[in-house]
Amino acid sequence: MNCIHIQASRSYEVLIGNGLLHHMGNIISGLEGGKPSRAVIVSDDQVFALYGAQTAGQLQQAGIAADPFIFPHGEASKCMSVYEMLLETLSGLRLTRSDLLVALGGGVTGDLTGFAAATYQRGIRYVQIPTTLLAAVDSSVGGKTAINLQHGKNQVGCFYQPSIVICDPETLRTLPEEEYRNGMSEVIKYGMIGDEAFLSCLETEDASDWIEDVIRICVMMKRDIVSQDEFDTGKRMLLNFGHTLGHGVESCSHYQIPHGIAVAMGMAAMTRAAERKGICSKGTAERLSKLLACYELPDETPYSPEDLAAAAMADKKKSGDQLRIVVPEAAGHCIIQTIPAAELEAWVRASGKE
Ligand code: NAD
Ligand code: GLY
Repeated sequence: MNCIHIQASRSYEVLIGNGLLHHMGNIISGLEGGKPSRAVIVSDDQVFALYGAQTAGQLQQAGIAADPFIFPHGEASKCMSVYEMLLETLSGLRLTRSDLLVALGGGVTGDLTGFAAATYQRGIRYVQIPTTLLAAVDSSVGGKTAINLQHGKNQVGCFYQPSIVICDPETLRTLPEEEYRNGMSEVIKYGMIGDEAFLSCLETEDASDWIEDVIRICVMMKRDIVSQDEFDTGKRMLLNFGHTLGHGVESCSHYQIPHGIAVAMGMAAMTRAAERKGICSKGTAERLSKLLACYELPDETPYSPEDLAAAAMADKKKSGDQLRIVVPEAAGHCIIQTIPAAELEAWVRASGKE
């Protein structure tokens, strides 16, 4: 088992190991702040059907009363009405501040549960149990919590760190292919922003053959970034590589193109544009496209530069008429650049495939 310490406003461990789900009752019993007497397992219908009974059984064996809150799977549930239902359920169950929420699932579950935990009775503890690759390598770590509004993703949220992250890579065995690809896009992102050697390994060895190490490496990179910039005012923005255009793609597709696929398109497009502008070393875009193809990820968007730039402009990372974008200088090295928002369309125009 790997244990990675995250230093933040609330410090905690990320445990990564096959079979950890069978030990989560004991792990949760030993949480800082004391053993909770009650827990609510928050999960979508698909994940709960697979791992809900096991999770509830673990908690009950440890002497922790467990109630489920199950919502329909999918991004549409990361919304105000499900959030409100969750809070009303917690209140109806008379959950107190010494109790616990357990986020069992992917990024949707983690973001929703984290936000409910941050706001219910001004904050109760929560545990992240990521069951998608994307959640394992990214969303379960670092304390970004949010729900969506009709006009945009993650428009309401806060930074609120979990008490522990328990990642059992065996849960990824039931993950559909497309969801696995989504997570691989974020994995490749880590390589592009800060670790060329990791990228080389992803090129030569199928990530699924060493997935526990892949998760460990990504979480260690995220640890290093979060410990320097928990509240996303500087270095943490590197984690948004591919996301400005990616969010544009998601929005243009009315959220039919999933997050990871959109980020892959966004990373490839930004890298081509950076190469054409002479910022990024030659050959990087081709190398990235080849790696994306290895993991069946696309490298171009189906939208016009005008539509994509307009949708990306609505991104919340815009501040005034300035926009911060993450630009690769080489494979394994990215920088944060501030550009006039009006220049984004020129970047998108420079990002097309020949
Ligand atoms: P998700 O939570 O919707 O899960 C994807 C699908 O996989 C769902 O249908 C779910 O039922 C299913 N699933 C999950 N685990 C499974 C398993 N083990 N076996 C079978 N099916 C399983 O989506 P996601 O891709 O995990 O997360 C995307 C969300 O994460 C987005 O809302 C995004 O904004 C957010 N996100 C947050 C952060 C952060 O730092 N907080 C970072 C990246 C992404
Ligand atoms: N996933 C982006 C972040 O955690 O900052």
